Amino acid sequence: MALGHSEPQYELLNGKKKYVQPIIHSMVLIGLAVLVVFVVLLMFYVSWMKFEDTSDQNIPMDFVLFGPQKYTNSDIAVYRAHTFAIAAKSNYKTYWTAKDKIIPGKRIDKTYNLACYYSIPTDDTNKTLHPAQINATLCTHLIVAFAQVQNNSVYFKSSFDMQILRQAVKLRKKNPELKVLLSIMHFSNGSHSNEGFPGVVANKDNLDKFVNNVVSVVREFYLDGIDIDWEFPSWPLLNLEEKYGFAKLLETLRFSLPDSLLTAAVAAPLNIIDNSYEIYSLASFVDFINVMTYDYHSYQWYFPLTGPNSPLFSSWNESGYFQYLNINSSIQYWISKGMPKEKILLGMPTYGHSFKLINEANNGFGSPTSGPGIGKDGFVTFSETCEFQSHQNASTVFDHDTRTPYSYHKNDWISFDNENSLAYKAEFAASLGLGGAMVFSLNTDDYSGSSLCSSSVFPLTSRIKIVLNDDYL
Ligand SMILES: *[C@@H]1O[C@H](CO)[C@@H](O)[C@H](O)[C@H]1NC(C)=O
Ligand SMILES: *[C@@H]1O[C@H](CO)[C@@H](O)[C@H](O)[C@H]1NC(C)=O
Ligand SMILES: *[C@@H]1O[C@H](CO)[C@@H](O)[C@H](O)[C@H]1NC(C)=O
Ligand SMILES: *[C@@H]1O[C@H](CO)[C@@H](O)[C@H](O)[C@H]1NC(C)=O
Ligand SMILES: *[C@@H]1O[C@H](CO)[C@@H](O)[C@H](O)[C@H]1NC(C)=O
Ligand SMILES: *[C@@H]1O[C@H](CO)[C@@H](O)[C@H](O)[C@H]1NC(C)=O
Ligand SMILES: *[C@@H]1O[C@H](CO)[C@@H](O)[C@H](O)[C@H]1NC(C)=O
Repeated sequence: MALGHSEPQYELLNGKKKYVQPIIHSMVLIGLAVLVVFVVLLMFYVSWMKFEDTSDQNIPMDFVLFGPQKYTNSDIAVYRAHTFAIAAKSNYKTYWTAKDKIIPGKRIDKTYNLACYYSIPTDDTNKTLHPAQINATLCTHLIVAFAQVQNNSVYFKSSFDMQILRQAVKLRKKNPELKVLLSIMHFSNGSHSNEGFPGVVANKDNLDKFVNNVVSVVREFYLDGIDIDWEFPSWPLLNLEEKYGFAKLLETLRFSLPDSLLTAAVAAPLNIIDNSYEIYSLASFVDFINVMTYDYHSYQWYFPLTGPNSPLFSSWNESGYFQYLNINSSIQYWISKGMPKEKILLGMPTYGHSFKLINEANNGFGSPTSGPGIGKDGFVTFSETCEFQSHQNASTVFDHDTRTPYSYHKNDWISFDNENSLAYKAEFAASLGLGGAMVFSLNTDDYSGSSLCSSSVFPLTSRIKIVLNDDYL
């Protein structure tokens, strides 16, 4: 590097010509160079730390970093699927053994909870499920999804949403035992913003403001409780302020709403569980957790292989982290980390994930795909899957290892849940003595009972209820 070239610039910077010894020039320039190198290295280090959890190349962080602020329920499902897929990519190592052996056929007789999410419709057409169509005795808990967090307050997207919530609460007239909760959701985009739940837990003033607002919402709408759906605290970057903040939020809500139900929707992948939750404090503040044991596999461009949405057990040929991407592993992990079984509700999807096969002859698990298939963003309702199966002459396979069915025809491939797979899941929940099951969602079940695969209205949710209560596979 010729120092002479820099000399005029240095003079320009000073605005007037000045005589400086060349030796001082070099010292200043070397100093600047060292500073630049230091700053660059620091930036490298910071970015490396930032991406450490997702160290594989080409992680699509854009959805994490630039996600929209106001979500529709289907956006949320898409983001969760991405988040779980990223969790599956990280080189997570786990060393633990389950405390509980599951003895088939042996179940614990008790009353099981059945908490059903009901997504507020995005419009008022006949094509969506309205509160009046919900069977008020089907579920023990109805969780209306979602309100959001804005300016440290509960935020409804529209007055229509509030109207739907009021109608849902009125279902208690048909069944006084029914508990109606509101789910408040926030999807973290990975940036340390002071919005949503990260903002709420940032300081005591925000937390107090939020909790007071929640208390007033509970009173205004006559709710039985609140479900906190923060996806996810301290993820993808370990952030202790959020991890302990989440526990503090639940503690404060529990203290301010001593007579209301308090639940949390929580992650299924083991590495998110480790990052996000202070399990012992969580356990002492919530009535139960809703473990989102679905979206284990969905189409991702960096992981374009078919796989079951909600496998009960691993496949015989899965190894490494993949053998833990199933309900059994997630639930056993929650238990092994200290969550009391009776506070765990096992999440059951009524929707499936679709894929477009690259080679239609290659149609098992782990087959290459080129994109999501039928349905919006690859999410298919039970009725859509049924239509696919019956009108398209598709082949359906019930995979024994994962206890889940998949269906394919030509290039279309769908992993889904039906009455059988959900019966296995419900039997598993009862064998372990869990608190019961959570359903996501009533909207994607066949609520009109009109599809050829349905034996009744809400066939899937009804089946879960029957198996939980009656030991009837
Ligand atoms: C992340 O979301 C918050 C709102 O929740 C927003 O204020 C912030 O700008 C977002 N960050 C990025 C990088 O988009
Ligand atoms: C369930 O998970 C536990 C813990 O990973 C494991 O020991 C057990 O073998 C699993 N059961 C089945 C049937 O895969
Ligand atoms: C909704 O259903 C009612 C009765 O079933 C019908 O009269 C009405 O036209 C429908 N509205 C739309 C927008 O389809
Ligand atoms: C509502 O659900 C309960 C419990 O599953 C069932 O016994 C009842 O028949 C259902 N009612 C209707 C109208 O479908
Ligand atoms: C946020 O809430 C505060 C009061 O707690 C209020 O003064 C402020 O105007 C609100 N900001 C927005 C953008 O709603
Ligand atoms: C693993 O086993 C499943 C189910 O038996 C099968 O569909 C899949 O093709 C197998 N994958 C590989 C890579 O052998
Ligand atoms: C449906 O599949 C069967 C067996 O693969 C075949 O014999 C039949 O022709 C197919 N029907 C239609 C309408 O594609």
